[in-house]
Amino acid sequence: MPRSAARTRKAATDARRKVASKPRKQAPPARATKPSRPMAIYHEHPRWFLPVFAELDRRSIPYVRLDAAHHHFDLAPNGDQQYGLIFNRMSPSAWTRGNAHAIFYTLSYLAHLERSGVRVVNGSHAFRVETSKALQLSLLHSLGLPHPRSAVINHPSQAVAAAHGLRFPIVVKPNIGGSGVGIVRFDSIEQLESAVRNDAIQLGLDSTGIVQEFIPARGGHITRVETLGYKYLYGIKVFTSGETFDLCPMDICKTSDGAEIKTACVVEGAKTGLRVEGYRPPPKVIAAVERIFREAQIEVGGLEYIIDDRDGQLYYYDVNALSNFVSDGPRIVGFDPFARLVDYLVKEAR
Ligand SMILES: Nc1ncnc2c1ncn2[C@@H]1O[C@H](COP(=O)(O)OP(=O)(O)O)[C@@H](O)[C@H]1O
Ligand SMILES: [Mg+2]
Repeated sequence: MPRSAARTRKAATDARRKVASKPRKQAPPARATKPSRPMAIYHEHPRWFLPVFAELDRRSIPYVRLDAAHHHFDLAPNGDQQYGLIFNRMSPSAWTRGNAHAIFYTLSYLAHLERSGVRVVNGSHAFRVETSKALQLSLLHSLGLPHPRSAVINHPSQAVAAAHGLRFPIVVKPNIGGSGVGIVRFDSIEQLESAVRNDAIQLGLDSTGIVQEFIPARGGHITRVETLGYKYLYGIKVFTSGETFDLCPMDICKTSDGAEIKTACVVEGAKTGLRVEGYRPPPKVIAAVERIFREAQIEVGGLEYIIDDRDGQLYYYDVNALSNFVSDGPRIVGFDPFARLVDYLVKEAR
């Protein structure tokens, strides 16, 4: 090796050592700066996210609303780089509002964004899981977590065969759900057979259905656990009259002592018989919930479980990526979950 080259190399090594031995400067504390590029909230439901927009407005954080039902994307270079982050709030129940077309489109859009390196919160994998109760049950099954005994069918003609071996009552659910839409309970095999004969079984948008044991809820409630950034955020008990399968927490209009909840109730209208109460599940459940969402890649999610009144067995049954926070959070769970959500989005957008 020529001498000069050896000298240069030695000098470079010395310089590196010098840098290495120099005490590291402490990074300045993170400043609560606003994201330089706007974030985008991609959504279909017109009202559910008003509290998120209100919180963003309150903090003067730049954002745009993308209407998932009327949307296009260009495959131009850097076409999607205008947003610092995209928060996917597309709803699987969009098909009940005339927006079925947006569901499958969303899968392609999210996958495209991810390929383009855009930061997506609740991305394509999360949305895949969100739009298939079959995948949700399969995930629970693979994690060894308890779920109601279920079978997946691709045609109503399969419902009776699928129900053999299940304990009645059962429910038949569309694979792509949301807010309990299309769920029907059958108390006997004869009742189910009759529904099949009369073409009364609707499997919904993807012609796939879940045939599942109905679990009588201990205490007359289910439990819903919300997570943010794969971490436990809060839990609530939702008391059901047993007459409805629609338990969207934004619609819940009474606390357990019967007081009216303000805000979203005004928007959605009261649904009688639904009450809600803040509740922290046992650590084992919280650990399971966090595990489920990590596996599902759902960063902002809500999971539902039910305790079987017959034997006390816990069953997880619904994994949601589109998770509406409970109305009037400060009173029900002691803090404003929408403020936590916006904290998270701002952190992730930076
Ligand atoms: N297997 C079941 N046993 C008893 N109740 C159920 C069962 N599955 C669903 N429900 C009731 O119906 C509601 C909606 O069902 P869910 O599976 O969560 O559908 P969605 O995705 O539409 O919310 C639940 O919150 C619960 O109250
Ligand atoms: Mg549900």
